[in-house]
Amino acid sequence: MKKRINLINLSGLLIIGSIFTSCMNKTTSTAPKQGITKQAWDSVGKQAVDLYTLTNKNGVEIKISNYGGKVTSWITKDKSGKSSSIVLGFDSAKKYTPAVPYFGALIGRYGNRIAKGKFKIDGKEYTLATNDHTNHLHGGNIGFDKVVWTADPIVDTVSSLTLNYLSKDGEEGYPGNLKVTVKYTLTDADELKIEYTATTDKATPVNLTNHSYFNLSGDHTNTILDEEIQINADKYTPVDAGLIPTGELKAVAGTPFDFTKPTKIGTHINEVPGPPVGYDHNFVLRNSDTTVHQAAVVYDAMSGRQLEVLTTEPAIQFYTGNFLDGTLKADDGKPITQHTALCLETQHYPDSPNEPSFPSTILKPGETLHSTTIYKVTVR
Ligand code: BGC
Repeated sequence: MKKRINLINLSGLLIIGSIFTSCMNKTTSTAPKQGITKQAWDSVGKQAVDLYTLTNKNGVEIKISNYGGKVTSWITKDKSGKSSSIVLGFDSAKKYTPAVPYFGALIGRYGNRIAKGKFKIDGKEYTLATNDHTNHLHGGNIGFDKVVWTADPIVDTVSSLTLNYLSKDGEEGYPGNLKVTVKYTLTDADELKIEYTATTDKATPVNLTNHSYFNLSGDHTNTILDEEIQINADKYTPVDAGLIPTGELKAVAGTPFDFTKPTKIGTHINEVPGPPVGYDHNFVLRNSDTTVHQAAVVYDAMSGRQLEVLTTEPAIQFYTGNFLDGTLKADDGKPITQHTALCLETQHYPDSPNEPSFPSTILKPGETLHSTTIYKVTVR
């Protein structure tokens, strides 16, 4: 049965209904404390923001803030039992300056690009903020990654954090009041399950995703070029110089985009048209029904960690951190350089509002958007 457990204030740290089942036996006092803790974290402008720590029975620990729904850390063991975080993130909200490209954040109202920030619905043209040269990217100047969400931490048999946000009519140029709920759950199968729900009072484009940057080695100074990836896509959407799809669905066979079998990311990366060097493309998933299906698998032989991505979405953006250029410094003071992390953003295709042949992203009043993505990390 679901319950919201009372908060116990403990030296500034709020423990929210931790389940101490594994601690019943005093001889196993080092066993992980399952549950969620809430910590006052920082402030963003005048708003205080919190950091929630979700821990499962295996000791996997994921930190998520209600500031942009950002996953700031994901600590797992490698094959030798050493724990480290496999995502890029910072220990303070203030480090998430506008120069930080969406580390771990929730993305919306429309993930990815809308050409020239313009689209029409029922003949009426809308103009969005253009924050990526002449195009609209990831929701505009103040997308869902930069707003403070209201949080509802719940302990069931596993721990979940539900975040709510009302995106008002006209925000960043979008029509309609959009109510969005995102539920993060850390399961005992070492999965981070993300469930998105949205409703609107005017027809509007919606494309919600999470922008975590993974480096399975757990060391952000290693590149991801030796990690292997398989993407269950026979086609991708080629793009123009501004990364707007041309409208074509192109076969991956015989191109550097063929990841139908596990392939090292670095194998053909220099053959991808650029600059910059790297993948930043939308792959059309083979199975595009609305059930949860496997989209991609990444494997890092050095650490033995494997990341499996499953989704109800029809596509996935594979981005190899091409624009990371060493300007940003991690908490350890070391620069975050090109290709030291990868993103697998489950989504509908970029610029769908302007491409009638692409699956529709228009949410209408009376409809409810449901979308689920699972990131599962194991060791082999
Ligand atoms: C986009 C990239 C962009 C990155 C960070 C990705 O989702 O596809 O082009 O640079 O996000 O902004």
